[in-house]
Amino acid sequence: MTSHPRPLPDLSKRDWSSLRDDFPILNQQVKGHPLVYLDSGASAQRPSHVIEAISRYYEHDHANVHRGTHALSERSTAAFEAARDRAAAFFNAKRREEIVFTRGATEGFNLLARAWGDAHIHEGDTILLTEMEHHSNLVPWQMLAERKKARLAFIPVTGLDGALDADALDRLLTPEVKVFSFTHVSNVFGCVNPVADLCRRARAKGIVTIVDAAQSAGHLPVDVQELGCDFLVCSGHKMLGPTGSGVLYGRYEMLEATPPFHGGGEMIEIVHFDRSIYRLPPGRFEAGTPSIAEAIGLHVAMDYLDAVGRERIHKHDAELVALARRGLGELPKVTLLGPAQGGTGLVTFVIDGVPPYDLSTFLDGRGIAIRGGHHCTMPLHKKLGLNASARASFHLYNTHAEVECFLEAVEDAIRFFG
Ligand code: ALA
Repeated sequence: MTSHPRPLPDLSKRDWSSLRDDFPILNQQVKGHPLVYLDSGASAQRPSHVIEAISRYYEHDHANVHRGTHALSERSTAAFEAARDRAAAFFNAKRREEIVFTRGATEGFNLLARAWGDAHIHEGDTILLTEMEHHSNLVPWQMLAERKKARLAFIPVTGLDGALDADALDRLLTPEVKVFSFTHVSNVFGCVNPVADLCRRARAKGIVTIVDAAQSAGHLPVDVQELGCDFLVCSGHKMLGPTGSGVLYGRYEMLEATPPFHGGGEMIEIVHFDRSIYRLPPGRFEAGTPSIAEAIGLHVAMDYLDAVGRERIHKHDAELVALARRGLGELPKVTLLGPAQGGTGLVTFVIDGVPPYDLSTFLDGRGIAIRGGHHCTMPLHKKLGLNASARASFHLYNTHAEVECFLEAVEDAIRFFG
């Protein structure tokens, strides 16, 4: 028995409603209605393949990794390290050692701000972000800036469509900027930022680049060599994988130049009573018992995404967004956020006279799950003059019929609250 994932068949020819059947949680009634899950931007659902792989691992193979010389530990270690190989291939890293397992994007950012940041950011330096970052790519940098007396600068968002002020970038890439950390796909606007261009311009000035792939890694191809970034973070639970799983990619030279984050077992080569010698990356960043079952589940999630086809998922997401935007745009009192074209994965909007929390509660009564709130982007909402907004976010298991059902319910809500 081994927890190496079973090969998946080619899923690229199956239609979306039949793929939906792979997700057992979606087959339920909520408040007397079939569940319409439109909150994948907050957390996606997982196919039975992922759930079964995790059960299989716990039923047959679980033991701690890298420690034992017994059969179960060997199996568990092999499956955990196979997940690292899979992630390296999924993101097209040059080396498997460039993949660090984390517990999600937030841990990835905290690792970078604490370990890399404490070593490389000094008083007077600038940390460059954009105004559309969610809190996990903002608060750790605020904490670092406070520790180091560094400053934060932001590329402005020019309006409700979420366009970044491209002219400001050249002005903001000053010699004081040491790191530029920004999102691939915005969790509010759904816009796809021109990552390769932004990385090229920053790196030409010797600035370290970090890409937040939380909203992109499960939806479209993400190739770190093509993007040209130094670091990239993502969360497994938004990629059809388990909660508590995630990946930090770092160019090997960058990881080598980064001191450890957490101290403890596994991240050391030699320990004395008064000091320790740390392992090379990635082991240096994986202190203690890692999330083994979660990495194995994430392996299968990546297999699943590729079996369906990431280009194909991207196209499907974009179609659902276009359908939702068209429908919402025809309704009275609705203001849409995000780009008119080219957005992916989600649609965010406000309705005059219908608070987003009330809308999400109303839709929940119809079995429709959306997110109402600030989506972990309080400063962005403040800048846009909003307290909150409503967001419907999609994944490969959503269908055109579900978007129609959502649009009908929003129309009813406008009538109800109007
Ligand atoms: N950042 C996550 C979201 O967009 C939690 O909902």
